[in-house]
Amino acid sequence: MNINNICCIGAGYVGGPTMAVIAQKNPKINVTVVDINRNRIDLWNSKDLSKLPIFEPGLDKVIIETRGKNLFFSNEIEKSIKEAEMIFISVNTPTKTYGDGKGMAADLTYVELCARKIAEVSKSDKIVVEKSTLPVKTAAAIKNILDETGSGVKFEILSNPEFLAEGTAMRDLIVPDRVLIGGGQDKSGLKAIKSLVDIYSSWVPSENILTTNLWSSELSKLVANAFLAQRISSINSISELCESTGADVDEVAKAIGMDSRIGSKFLKTSVGFGGSCFQKDILNLVYISKSLGLNKVADYWSQVIIFNNHQRERFAKNILKTLYNTVAGKKICFFGWAFKKNTNDTRESAAIYVADLLIDEKAIINVYDPKVSENKIHEDLNYLGKRSDKQNAELINIKNNPYEASKDSHAIAILTEWDEFIAYDWIKIFNSMKKPAFIFDGRNLLDKEKIEKIGFIYQGIGKH
Ligand code: NAD
Ligand code: UGA
Repeated sequence: MNINNICCIGAGYVGGPTMAVIAQKNPKINVTVVDINRNRIDLWNSKDLSKLPIFEPGLDKVIIETRGKNLFFSNEIEKSIKEAEMIFISVNTPTKTYGDGKGMAADLTYVELCARKIAEVSKSDKIVVEKSTLPVKTAAAIKNILDETGSGVKFEILSNPEFLAEGTAMRDLIVPDRVLIGGGQDKSGLKAIKSLVDIYSSWVPSENILTTNLWSSELSKLVANAFLAQRISSINSISELCESTGADVDEVAKAIGMDSRIGSKFLKTSVGFGGSCFQKDILNLVYISKSLGLNKVADYWSQVIIFNNHQRERFAKNILKTLYNTVAGKKICFFGWAFKKNTNDTRESAAIYVADLLIDEKAIINVYDPKVSENKIHEDLNYLGKRSDKQNAELINIKNNPYEASKDSHAIAILTEWDEFIAYDWIKIFNSMKKPAFIFDGRNLLDKEKIEKIGFIYQGIGKH
């Protein structure tokens, strides 16, 4: 099929950057990104690029180059679906918060709504591409919905999961390790696969474009995230062992990472992984395994999440223990709230859970994050639903600069590995704090020796 018009449903962290790059690399194809959230679309269209709804280094340049030429952001969902030959579904697939599978299964409401809308308004044949991360076999459900319209329109379903990481999304999209495309293995399925391969071939070398059957592609996405998260929980478990033995987890990570069979990436110990996907995708994998009666498989992967929760909790408990078993009325300054550096995304950030545990102990939390808004921080805590919004607001203060945040605090907790934290005037920070002044470095970001020379009592993760 000749592709002249692409529609992407969902203008989020994936839909926006992914379509911007597809448009940049395929100037002859019109790409329209649609969303039910009007405010989000308005922000994508804002002249002031600092107002784009997501912060991602390098994204603004690609937006300037393409927006209004062959990349459009719109609320006209039906029109855009009708005009497109290829439709990407890139909506959110959060963990279910109700009913069967609550707390584990993926909530496919939004995906199903997209499929129903496509079925309702399509007047010509379409290729529908799953860009969202979905449970294996979802393509069969989408196909069922689409084929029940009786309109005679033919739909071909492809799976094209996204592997970008926030903060490095543009690089990940422009030089991907691989692009994965799954589809039907019959004649029309293979033809559809080729149409999508052609789009990526504009910039991705053919050896990096991998084609598979639908189920392998859907499952590979869940498995990739599970393997990445597993490495973090593995090294975090070793961090606890290091603290009890005098070994240094960064030294251990380096020593094992130099074995080319293990590799050095994703071995950075931390206060725990966050982000919208690792936890939800592993829970989904566990749910699928349980549904198939594969309880040992489910137990194996559950442990990755169990350990991550433990790592966050033990970080908070260590602050409590070190500050003489009480933090009531004490100010703890948080440097960082985002789930990793170079993003304003806070979904499932360890900072939220650490703050929550310390607020339970009646600590006062001052937060400084270079990119996260005050509203977002309040929203994140309120979303946990443990206290009233007013009670949360009384115990959390959001500051505009690090020196204000650290003033009069008993301790600093580093929750995000923003580069700028290293360059702060740590002597000035030390002088403004209560003594003894503690630093709990949840990212092993600072130089322990330098920091201790100033007078701080420093504790990294997995270090003595
Ligand atoms: P997001 O929440 O940032 O964006 C999803 C968008 O879809 C929202 O703007 C929402 O308003 C819109 N939407 C929902 N239902 C809609 C509907 N019926 N019609 C039109 N718009 C609708 O989510 P995201 O982070 O972009 O993630 C999207 C998918 O990609 C998820 O399945 C996620 O697991 C996967 N993924 C995310 C990342 C990441 O780094 N964030 C990376 C790889 C894969
Ligand atoms: C992750 C994957 O890396 C992407 O390939 C995938 O597409 C994406 O999830 C998704 O499906 O949403 P992302 O969550 O954006 O990307 O960011 P990561 O770089 O993977 O970091 C996730 C969390 O792990 C962060 O909190 C980070 O600080 C933490 N992390 C990462 C560590 O604690 N140690 C490490 O060594 C690496």
